[in-house]
Amino acid sequence: MSVPIKNPEDIAKMRIACRLAAEVLEMIGEHVRPGITTKALDDICHDHIVNRQQAIPAPLNYKGFPKSICTSLNQVICHGIPNEDKVLKDGDILNIDITVIKDGYHGDTSKMFFVGKPKPPAERLVRITQECLYKGIEVVRPGARLGDIGHVIQQHAESSHYSVVREYCGHGIGKGFHEEPQVMHYGKAGSGMELKEGMIFTIEPMINQGKRHNKVLPDGWTVVTKDRKLSAQWEHTVLVTAKGHEILTLRGEESL
Ligand code: MF3
Ligand code: CO
Ligand code: CO
Repeated sequence: MSVPIKNPEDIAKMRIACRLAAEVLEMIGEHVRPGITTKALDDICHDHIVNRQQAIPAPLNYKGFPKSICTSLNQVICHGIPNEDKVLKDGDILNIDITVIKDGYHGDTSKMFFVGKPKPPAERLVRITQECLYKGIEVVRPGARLGDIGHVIQQHAESSHYSVVREYCGHGIGKGFHEEPQVMHYGKAGSGMELKEGMIFTIEPMINQGKRHNKVLPDGWTVVTKDRKLSAQWEHTVLVTAKGHEILTLRGEESL
């Protein structure tokens, strides 16, 4: 079990792939409104990635995944499949997860969108989940441990009376979509592998309004909360630098 350390050429190429992934999220925002289908969002992203960015949508045909992006609506935790029957309605919350491959390297990022006017409980879940991501990122530096990331995320989620999904985690990323290490979103401070300059991985907490338990629908992909309460997720790809970290998928709207 070895964690790749990226060289300067890898890092330069990862910066490019990650910026493209972030740009897809910036581009799609204005299209997320009541009445559009998740299939239409997939079509727009696919076209943008393939024709404008001249990149590859990594999910398409990945282990048989049939579409170019993941669209996870309301009680869907992750890996929702865009569908022409899924019409967005006022008050929905939607995660769009984008992974592009450019020049052989992967950039992976996701954000939550409100469809129309959000309801206060949904707004709180989405906000606290984003805070979980930022708190996880904040502790990333050489010498910190993977458990430090999981610990601060779990602490913030559970003290807000939410739960952390355990079956899915962040991951190393580079030429491979899912590389070592696995980045848990729960854990003990001071435990786990030590972070080293040049590692690149995602942090992508999935936080549930109710209990953490989940199941995969018969389509083999869509992961939903067992209690059918809401779930939220935010994801960034992060580089460990000498001084701390660099968020490779940072969007213009984020002030960090
Ligand atoms: N982008 C997801 C992640 O963050 C993985 C999606 S795999 C797919 O790791 F096949 F569902 F697209
Ligand atoms: Co990921
Ligand atoms: Co992702």
